[in-house]
This record gives sequence, C-alpha cells and structure tokens, in this order.
Amino acid sequence: MAELRIVTYGDPVLRETSEPVDEINQEVKDLVSDLTDALKKARGLGLSAVQIGVLKCVFIVDLTAVDLTETLRVFINPEIVETSGEVEMEEGCLSFPGIYQKIVRPSHVRVRATSLDGNEFEIAASGLAARAVLHEYDHLEGKLFIDRMSSITRTLLKGRLRKLARDSRAA
Ligand code: NI
Repeated sequence: MAELRIVTYGDPVLRETSEPVDEINQEVKDLVSDLTDALKKARGLGLSAVQIGVLKCVFIVDLTAVDLTETLRVFINPEIVETSGEVEMEEGCLSFPGIYQKIVRPSHVRVRATSLDGNEFEIAASGLAARAVLHEYDHLEGKLFIDRMSSITRTLLKGRLRKLARDSRAA
C-alpha cells in the first residue's frame, strides 16, 4: 500500500465540499482503515477523509490518548443536530503542522451519523469531544480552522501560512 500522506494547507482539495456516502462498501471500510492508520501515525485526535484527499463525508475522532473511557469513533454522513454554549479552546489541525491557536466554538454539540456497521447513532458531546467533532465536520464543508480565527490572528500567522502553502505545493 502506498504511503498515506496527510494533505496540508495550500492544497486546494481542503476547500472542496465532501460527498455523502451512499453505501458502506469495501471502499468505505478501506477508507476508514486508511484514516485510522494515518491518524495513529500522526498522533492526532481527529481526521477527515478530505485530509487524505478523499472527498467523502467521513471522519474519525480518537480521544483514547487523552481519555481512557473513549474509543475511536467513526462518523459517516454526519449531521450537526444542535449546538449550544461557547468556549475558547486551543486547537490544532494535522493539515496545519505546528500551528495551534485558541478558537471559539460551541461548547456542546449533538451529532447524528452512521457507524461503520451501518447503524445510525446520535451522541451528545462536550469538552474536547465536541471540539473534535465540530472541527472535523468543518473539513467536510471545506472550512478550515483559520476561517474561525480572528483577523488579527490570521494576520499574525500570514508568514507561516504562506510558508505552509509553499511547502504543500512543493510536496
Ligand atoms: Ni483539521
């Protein structure tokens, strides 16, 4: 199997909208397995299909490294049912290596999705889990965490973002 590369900022695919999955077939199972491998290797908390260049509405969240009661969760065709509250939290993104910034997002979320075995589920999340779900969901709509930063922060990051985009094109 070819080495999986996580797409970084500057690659236009990150701005594309992902397509819903119509059937959980072998291709989707392989995609989730690729996402799992890539996420574990990168030691991240969440990864969306678009970040490995696949425009399908699939993401995974793995908080097992920070919370022993958690398991890796697969979200296929997720829908945000409800959000509430507001909290500022430091966030990173595997498509923006080395960049961590405080971002304001809802503190609670209810999300409905399909699991890898085809069952629909709905969960309520708060804290880091809510943060991870909202961040990954944005990826499926072509939104990035820099879009949620203040314009001052984005201005301060300009040089680093430009360098990332340059490196991404060179890769
Ligand atoms: Ni991200």
